[in-house]
Amino acid sequence: MDFQKDSYGDELRLKAIEKFDLISDLEQLEQFKTELLGRKGSITELIKNISTLPSDEKKDAGKNANLIKIFFQELIQEKFEEYKSNDIDSHQSIDLSLPGRRRFRGSFHPTTVVLREISKVFTEMGFDSAEGPEVELDEYNFQKLNIPLDHPARDMWNTLWVDTTNDSSLKPLLMRTHTSPMQIRLMEKQTPPIRIIVPGKTYRYEATDATHEWQFCQVEGLVVDKGITFAHLKSTLEEFAQKMFGHKRKARFRCDFFPFVEPGAEVSIDCFKCDGADGCNVCGYSGWIEIMGAGMVHPEVLKGVGYDPEIYSGFAFGMGAERISMLKNGIDDVRLFYSNDLRFLKQFS
Ligand code: DAH
Repeated sequence: MDFQKDSYGDELRLKAIEKFDLISDLEQLEQFKTELLGRKGSITELIKNISTLPSDEKKDAGKNANLIKIFFQELIQEKFEEYKSNDIDSHQSIDLSLPGRRRFRGSFHPTTVVLREISKVFTEMGFDSAEGPEVELDEYNFQKLNIPLDHPARDMWNTLWVDTTNDSSLKPLLMRTHTSPMQIRLMEKQTPPIRIIVPGKTYRYEATDATHEWQFCQVEGLVVDKGITFAHLKSTLEEFAQKMFGHKRKARFRCDFFPFVEPGAEVSIDCFKCDGADGCNVCGYSGWIEIMGAGMVHPEVLKGVGYDPEIYSGFAFGMGAERISMLKNGIDDVRLFYSNDLRFLKQFS
């Protein structure tokens, strides 16, 4: 638009442009618009004043005043658009000054933690590690472990049976009550030397209380070779006890019965809290804490997998993983492991 110098309203136009250049926000722009184009605004007044002019000037003055009005209307509108798009941009862009959002970090489950600790001790001693099926045949869970059908020794394990009544081709199936059936599966598959641990889930038909869960984890161990003796069993498990519970620990081996070992043993450590002195609440005032069952692999079991017991001998052991964790961490209720309470679980991160 070209405006002629000193034409009607030109002075107002120049002053208004100067003012417009100083506008820095939306509020100032609104005010500027009112001052110029509002009911009592300077451009409105300028147009009103035309009626007072001599009639030969009215035409040009009218034309000029209208041009000024349109000029500022457009200018103000453009500026409004600019502010609007800036506003949208500022919503979409990233505000780097905002504090970051904390990421929730998970942690290993306490059972995983203890399984890793146990595995580490044995792998450092040269053991391999394997896993096996949680749904197991009666044959492996019991029979091949020297526990025949209807033998009273089965009462040692309360069993969750899988219902196979609809399919007569299926052999009796159960949720494994211990990890020991993997001893058989491993021996059937390979020839000695064998040195392996088997961590995994086990199941019992059991009412739960502070020391019993219907599902828990065990770690089985098996060593078979020529010339393996009870001395190997003792030194291996004593080493384990010391690595797990402190180098001062003593291990105690007392006779116990498990059908798949002969002799069988209950392995205890002297209490790490009272050092076995006068007894305390951790060791039940006995000075000793039972940590696992063990023994020399029964000759019948060796024969069953085709090993000659005159040539090969071995030892086996089995422990409850949660029990080891409870002892190490002073946990007094096994149900905490699987009740999904984050206040408990987070303590192991
Ligand atoms: N399987 C036994 C149980 O669940 C524990 C056990 C005892 C495993 C002696 C062994 C062993 O390998 O030699 O009670």
